[in-house]
Amino acid sequence: MSGELLYEGKAKKVYQSGESKVVIVEFKDDATAFNGAKKGQIADKGVANAAISAKLFQLLEVRGIATHFREQLDSRSLKVDWLKMIPLEVVVRNRVAGSLEKRTGLKEGTVLEQAVVELYLKNDSLGDPLLNDDHIRVLGLAGPELLSQLRTQAHRINNILQQFFEQRNLILVDFKLEFGLRDNQLVLGDEISPDTCRLWDQTTLKKLDKDRFRRDLGSVEEAYREVLERVLS
Ligand code: TMP
Repeated sequence: MSGELLYEGKAKKVYQSGESKVVIVEFKDDATAFNGAKKGQIADKGVANAAISAKLFQLLEVRGIATHFREQLDSRSLKVDWLKMIPLEVVVRNRVAGSLEKRTGLKEGTVLEQAVVELYLKNDSLGDPLLNDDHIRVLGLAGPELLSQLRTQAHRINNILQQFFEQRNLILVDFKLEFGLRDNQLVLGDEISPDTCRLWDQTTLKKLDKDRFRRDLGSVEEAYREVLERVLS
């Protein structure tokens, strides 16, 4: 990679691009779960996640959602706009799974008639806690208008992605988004991939996402390849 390394996260590295306010995101094969407690590698995950993210960001742009995406540079790298990130993880859920199952006791797979949106603090040392609107206000992370914009965008993105995956025989169970600001405009950043979405085969309900790694279900690489193929189809 050409430019200076600006930041290394658990699944991605961010490099300078040489252009002002533009950076390069490189997707790694490293996988972590449970706030980094479980570590591993998923062969070619970075290649799958870069291509899947690129395709989904392009889809969203066409449908009027502002994203950081500019272009795919190579099999693992995307050129994106630098954003002033908002340290919130915006989770959208169409069915019960994961932490919502734990929190509510509802059965995994239960359909949520209206999508549930949750906001978590992006802070590894605190374990990314769930926040309510008062917590967000106290932390000074977003005022009422920005919060409302975040929720509106999350629902819009959900509608677009749900339909896209449905056409590929995949159920979008839930997913996580991260947003930032570009010239004061709310813009979608980060990635959209099987690392950050739960995707189930519509016919068999087979899990085709990072839950295969989190829960040691096997066929992890195959799941990422399967999603990549369907997304690009
Ligand atoms: P959860 O059920 O564990 O709260 O996860 C909800 C969704 O968010 C799921 O699609 C996985 C995604 N997610 C991330 O992208 N990063 C994370 O650190 C966590 C905990 C979840």
